[in-house]
Amino acid sequence: MTSFRFDDLKQYSDTLRSRSGDAVKVRFVEPRDAEPLQNYVRSLSTRSRYNRFLGAISELPQTLLERFIDVGEAEQFSVVATMMFDGFETIVGEARYAFHAETSSIEFGLSIDDRWQGHGIGRALLKNLECRAASFGAEHVFGDTLRSNEQMIALARKAGYAFTASPGDWKLVRFEKSIDVEPRDIPCASWRLAAISRQSAIPPLAG
Ligand SMILES: CC(C)(COP(=O)(O)OP(=O)(O)OC[C@H]1O[C@@H](n2cnc3c(N)ncnc32)[C@H](O)[C@@H]1OP(=O)(O)O)[C@@H](O)C(=O)NCCC(=O)NCCS
Repeated sequence: MTSFRFDDLKQYSDTLRSRSGDAVKVRFVEPRDAEPLQNYVRSLSTRSRYNRFLGAISELPQTLLERFIDVGEAEQFSVVATMMFDGFETIVGEARYAFHAETSSIEFGLSIDDRWQGHGIGRALLKNLECRAASFGAEHVFGDTLRSNEQMIALARKAGYAFTASPGDWKLVRFEKSIDVEPRDIPCASWRLAAISRQSAIPPLAG
């Protein structure tokens, strides 16, 4: 398990690229994001919201919004993907992941603003989440999605995920992948920082 510096979450930010090369920043959610994040969720199409939250909601219930903001609580983490428009940082995606120590796995869900879907941001964010999972020492990543969610299923299939029935809900399918790539192939700040903290935990050789 990686140790987090909760007083300095900015250092775990990454810059990804959309298919056409636009910069997309991925960073942990901060308290100042509460309103923009809620507006982002409200602005999603009904279908995207349904697919992401597995139910007909028009916005994040207050308790869920609070959990989004409370990064690290109960080993659950939220990130936003942002782009700069006219000098303003704008949320174009989000993801939430949870570390399950007992199964050494990371469970995640994500969404991309409808106007930005199909630009390769989902794929880049998924890869980033795999790197963040590797930083925990997790061996597997997985998520559950509606069987009808063709975009997510296509994205997961292309990214090498295997599919099984989701335990307890026939409407869902589980996509799962072993983290077998070398983390250096999928660099992210979380992994680099975890590697540094592991190194500094090794006692110096007796000389
Ligand atoms: C699923 C989702 C995250 C994909 O993000 P995205 O940024 O649009 O995906 P990308 O542009 O990176 O596309 C990656 C791959 O996904 C698949 N894909 C994406 N959109 C697709 C579509 N409309 N139809 C078919 N396949 C699609 C393709 O295989 C694509 O690869 P390609 O471009 O080489 O063909 C996005 O559609 C979304 O936010 N949906 C609503 C929320 C949701 O369903 N979340 C999943 C819950 S876990």
